[in-house]
Amino acid sequence: MRKNIVAGNWKMNTTVPEGIALAKAVAAKAAEVPAEVGLVVAPPFTHLCAVAEALKGSPVGLSAQNCADKTKGAYTGEVSVDMLVSTGCQYTILGHSERRQYYGETDEKLVEKTKLALAAGLKVILCVGENLEEREAGKHFDVVKAQTENVLYNFTAEDMANVIVAYEPVWAIGTGKTATAEQAEEIHACIRKVLAAKFGQTVADDTTILYGGSCKPSNAKELFAQPDIDGGLIGGAALKADDFIQIALSF
Ligand code: 13P
Repeated sequence: MRKNIVAGNWKMNTTVPEGIALAKAVAAKAAEVPAEVGLVVAPPFTHLCAVAEALKGSPVGLSAQNCADKTKGAYTGEVSVDMLVSTGCQYTILGHSERRQYYGETDEKLVEKTKLALAAGLKVILCVGENLEEREAGKHFDVVKAQTENVLYNFTAEDMANVIVAYEPVWAIGTGKTATAEQAEEIHACIRKVLAAKFGQTVADDTTILYGGSCKPSNAKELFAQPDIDGGLIGGAALKADDFIQIALSF
């Protein structure tokens, strides 16, 4: 059966010393969280080695926020999957809406990145989600379905054991505007149906689907109570260890 996960996407926040302190604070409180809830933090690339060290001996997983779509060579400024693995990282987020929106991340690129990440032994947290215009036009199901299919239909049922999907409606990210539990649940159920159509019901049932977008201690319980919401990808509230842990205690 699928695992519940609460993952903190730190985005472009914290210096290295601040990141180490935050990771240590999360690790120190991790024992309060039941073992069946997975905790993951995703600091910036520059922090990965130091945060891996800070998390040693704790159950908290380590994720990158992105990876290159090439293996190595003359790609200035890029970070390869092998580099990530060598830091002690076990996951990478891919396809975050901020990368799609500001850095031209396409579904085609995400297929390449997902292939490389899985081949290197990383678990992938693939983000999907519609923007405000798409939601207001009633296209949210179609957009999320297409994003999910365009990337994940290139993979096998076995690959899916290492894929986590995160539904993050763009209009709810960093805005304080959370999708209602019902709005989130109907999209999560739709994603699971899309996965079942290609990989079968067992794989769909075993896939963790996270919600992201202004998730915080005050609304996590209601969101996580939904049958198809298996945890959260947390932005702002992951920058405070207490809030992050509080969210992880909301199942
Ligand atoms: P906020 O929780 O700050 O809205 O960010 C959500 C997010 O984008 C996580 O990846």
